[in-house]
Amino acid sequence: MDPIYLDYAATTPVRAEVRAAMEPYLDQRFGNPSSTHRWGREAQAALEESRSRIAEVLGARRREIVFVRGGTESDNLAILGRADHLDAEGACPHVVTCATEHKAVLDTVRAVERRGGRATVLDVDHRGTLSLDALDAALAEAPCVASLMWVNNEVGVVHPMAEIAARTRARGVPLHSDAVQAVGKVRVRVDEVAVDVLSLSGHKLHGPKGTGALFVREGTELHARIHGGGQEMGLRPGTQDVAGAVGLAEAVELAVAEQQDTAARLTSLRELLEGRLRATVPGLRIHGHGAPRAPHVLNVGVPEVDPELLLVSLDMAGLAVSGGSACSSGGTGGSHVLQALYGAAPVPAAIRFSFARETTVEEVERAADVTLATLRRLAPRAVAT
Ligand SMILES: Cc1ncc(COP(=O)(O)O)c(C=O)c1O
Repeated sequence: MDPIYLDYAATTPVRAEVRAAMEPYLDQRFGNPSSTHRWGREAQAALEESRSRIAEVLGARRREIVFVRGGTESDNLAILGRADHLDAEGACPHVVTCATEHKAVLDTVRAVERRGGRATVLDVDHRGTLSLDALDAALAEAPCVASLMWVNNEVGVVHPMAEIAARTRARGVPLHSDAVQAVGKVRVRVDEVAVDVLSLSGHKLHGPKGTGALFVREGTELHARIHGGGQEMGLRPGTQDVAGAVGLAEAVELAVAEQQDTAARLTSLRELLEGRLRATVPGLRIHGHGAPRAPHVLNVGVPEVDPELLLVSLDMAGLAVSGGSACSSGGTGGSHVLQALYGAAPVPAAIRFSFARETTVEEVERAADVTLATLRRLAPRAVAT
């Protein structure tokens, strides 16, 4: 059987248009954008055009887009950069975040704590949604930044960003949102939703790996994390990856332009797979069920099966999925996201299927067949005959 890749929330292939846009900047137009000669000016023009294109589709201004090296770096710069700013002003940083954030946020918040700052980590309910009342209470303690993701990478739950942003804005608390899984999947506009800092990553939307951006709303003070030649408005020094920036801009622009069509198509694929699995596995849990969910992720809990064995067996049967995020793949035992949904209750084996523009109905149907055949073998009592 041809293998099936349904792990697009982990990463996506670079699309042809992105590769074509990048190619000239790898050799012919290789200049350093900080050089003043024609090679430099050409590179600088491409970099600034890329910045404008990303700004335009997000509803931002050109100078509000900072090129960084991926989602993790973007999250780190947002949170530590904000905490450092507060530190410099002599105040104790306090970060408000949520238990289901990506490790790039949670571990960064832990780093703030290790340096003497404070953190409030909000719980979620069994669907993966946070309580806005709990958020209000945390905001009353005057945090230096709230960091709340737009779309969860493991279960696909969409946070109510407009309501969250209205609350942080009312309290004058800067809001960072990790939108790595949101851009191109749901509508993300910083002129409609009052987020102050926003992270995105190229490789989740058919752009190159190691590329990313941070939107920093004008007037939001951040400190740089690394020091050097002052590039990227001083926030991310180091010679810019012009080809990467061009590729990122192309990928983001296409993803945003196609977002509505993509969402409609991927939602129907997600529903197809969910329906097939539900019909045959009576005890199946749909993680995030009842909460708004992004179109590209379906995360299910399967009773009576060993999580490691399940993922290995699916892989051997030709189906590439994950048990949680790519960083906790190989098992669901370590998923802090599912643990947050289940609280004290035991977490079942989970499968995260994730889709992208290349996913077909035929692949989804085969994925359902492979999953059901594997479950019949590993957990016969869980599957209806
Ligand atoms: C929600 C979220 N945030 C951050 C990241 C990290 O992004 P990157 O792999 O570009 O560092 C990921 C990727 O797994 C993610 O899904």
